[in-house]
Amino acid sequence: MSAPLYHLRNQFPALNQPDLVYLDNAATTQKPERVLSAMNRFYREQNANVHRGAHRLSDLATRTFEGARDKVQSFINAPAREEVIFTRGTTESMNLLAQSLGSHLLQPGDEILIDTWAHHACIVPWQQMAMRTGAKLIPIPLTGDGDLDLDAYQALLGPKTRVVSLTQVSNALGKVAPLEVMLPEARAAGAITIVDGAQAVAHLEIDVQTLGCDFYAFSGHKCYGPTGIGVLWGRRELLEQMPPYQYGGEMIQQVSFEGSQFNRLPYKFEAGTPAIAEAIGLGEALAFIDELDRKALQAHETALMERVKAGMAALPGVEAIAGRGHNLGALSFRVEGEHHQDIGILLDQAGVAVRCGHHCCQPLMQALGLKGSCRVSFAAYNSLEEVDAFLSALKEITEFLDD
Ligand SMILES: Cc1ncc(COP(=O)(O)O)c(C=O)c1O
Repeated sequence: MSAPLYHLRNQFPALNQPDLVYLDNAATTQKPERVLSAMNRFYREQNANVHRGAHRLSDLATRTFEGARDKVQSFINAPAREEVIFTRGTTESMNLLAQSLGSHLLQPGDEILIDTWAHHACIVPWQQMAMRTGAKLIPIPLTGDGDLDLDAYQALLGPKTRVVSLTQVSNALGKVAPLEVMLPEARAAGAITIVDGAQAVAHLEIDVQTLGCDFYAFSGHKCYGPTGIGVLWGRRELLEQMPPYQYGGEMIQQVSFEGSQFNRLPYKFEAGTPAIAEAIGLGEALAFIDELDRKALQAHETALMERVKAGMAALPGVEAIAGRGHNLGALSFRVEGEHHQDIGILLDQAGVAVRCGHHCCQPLMQALGLKGSCRVSFAAYNSLEEVDAFLSALKEITEFLDD
């Protein structure tokens, strides 16, 4: 581990246990002490509901909660804090978009383009809205290497394309989408663009203005924050036009039995008491990432990925999936003749936690001709020694199964 990242592991209490090589970070990352402490402090010293109390504690809770929104705004370089909406995670962000934007925008025959890497959280909400409105959900196909087929994408873009939904980093393959090419093309076709940043935020610097998308979504728990909190950022002019997604307290300005007036942004999309402690935890997690040496982090994650790829290439019967070229944070693999679940169980018995299955990407698995795969995924605190421990466990398992 490089020097600037050396002390990281000590900050993660859950890593301090024997026989645990945690390589399932794309599912969820561990949480640093400062995130746990911030949430604990909120409940012990500041707990009150936000935006509504006339008392000191409520004022403090509101300021801490809204401070977390400011942290998100600066972390993704959003133009305005009102454009940052707290959700339960990427899944809720996508449901909000499909239901609110979809019902406002889609007409029969309209087209929604979505990449084949897409997580079910992106596919299913748009699929359901397409069924309701008569729009069509069209997948952007893959090349033989598992990359997005840019020629096919360009051919699919057209006057009927209303929405383009893209995964920034594939959770199953670790592939990174060429957003710098794809987003301007979508915009030129007049489409609204959505980026699923769930697997990007822990690894890449995010600047929604440079990206040039209309919406950006991510989950707190995949970037060292708590579960139950996520973000939807959107361009103000679009958010202003969209109807609310849920109704209740917080999201209204005026209510009578005859009708209601909705609140201003971002509260229009935040019905009910929000996940206050979780938002505060997320703000702390983003501050943790901000303080990392980004260059060192990138070099370290590249070293981990290169080591695991070289190690897998040397193991007979082990095949990295879509492992040619660049993989960021995650790599899928299979063992010839063996079920991915069996490999996962045997690795677990050796103290190595990986993910096995379809990774909530069944259409991707179908496109690759797979029932599922095993996946290793890294966070900043993983070490080369852990990669070696994984590789030696995998070697023992394949030799044992080969006997
Ligand atoms: C790329 C991607 N998108 C969306 C999601 C859904 O995230 P969540 O379950 O936190 O809502 C995940 C989770 O694995 C993901 O990896």
